[in-house]
Amino acid sequence: MRPRKRRKVSIVGAGNVGATTAQKIVENGLADVVILDVREGMAQGKALDILESGPLLGFDTRIVGSGNYETIEGSSVVVVTAGFSRKPGMSREDLLHKNGDIMIEVAEKIRKHAPDSVVIMVTNPMDLMAYILWKVTGFPRERVIGMGGALDSSRFAYFVSEVTNTSVSNIQTMVMGGHGDDMVPLLEFSTIAGVSLKKALDPEVLQNLVARTRDGGGEIVRLMKDSSAYFAPAAAIYSMIESILHDRHRVIPSSVYLEGEYGVKGVFSGVPVQIGNIGLEKIVLLPLSTEEEEAFHRSTESIRQGIRTIDRLFPDLGRS
Ligand code: LAC
Repeated sequence: MRPRKRRKVSIVGAGNVGATTAQKIVENGLADVVILDVREGMAQGKALDILESGPLLGFDTRIVGSGNYETIEGSSVVVVTAGFSRKPGMSREDLLHKNGDIMIEVAEKIRKHAPDSVVIMVTNPMDLMAYILWKVTGFPRERVIGMGGALDSSRFAYFVSEVTNTSVSNIQTMVMGGHGDDMVPLLEFSTIAGVSLKKALDPEVLQNLVARTRDGGGEIVRLMKDSSAYFAPAAAIYSMIESILHDRHRVIPSSVYLEGEYGVKGVFSGVPVQIGNIGLEKIVLLPLSTEEEEAFHRSTESIRQGIRTIDRLFPDLGRS
């Protein structure tokens, strides 16, 4: 029997998030990587730069930079980071329009060249971009998963560790809802050494932690000015890919297409998702408090409004 080849992960978009994710995968020997970018030479240059670090770091995994979608053939996982970020003066709808156009094209290419892959959507507005890609590819919902909750809950956990001076390894956090201003950090289901945050911390401290988590992406942009976050986003994507390729069945908050879970249908929104080889294995149903449930529904309603805009801007997305 021939030895099994290493698995392949393709990353669409060689910006900071895409390239940092690629670097992490290759350095850790998790998979071979293809990184794609429409900007001539960008993906090739970054791939070569990473390969040239191999002798220093001792990895034999491979990375190929390309501008051609044929190179993604055979990918187990495709990560989509391509698109614009919001610039000053740009409305959410402008961004939706611009990235929507890109996503339709990316989805058509993935459907053609990596029809069996699990897709991780990263481009913002993430929950809506995942919806477009899911519609255009026609993939089952198990294989289109949005990255948001993994990042938001990692930020939340870090802030808790900072405030309480506790190791991050003792903190478990859960954030539900859209990857936006109205995400819902859960206080009953987030714990420090097994004790819920609600029991462990003062209401005022909790309120600040929730506010800082919701503003996590914005805080980084205000500091860096012309860039958004990429180290923590790349780590979040990595954790999802690792759970897929190693079939770990980790529960990672992620955006998936809801079919009635938590009383919501027809939108992508962040829920606790068990992730393995097939992608989405199971949506974990937490017994939310009334308050949390209401906050989750408010968050999904704003995603639903975005979906209405998408259906107006792009009336022919394929599946109905
Ligand atoms: C963030 C943005 C980029 O949360 O989604 O950092």
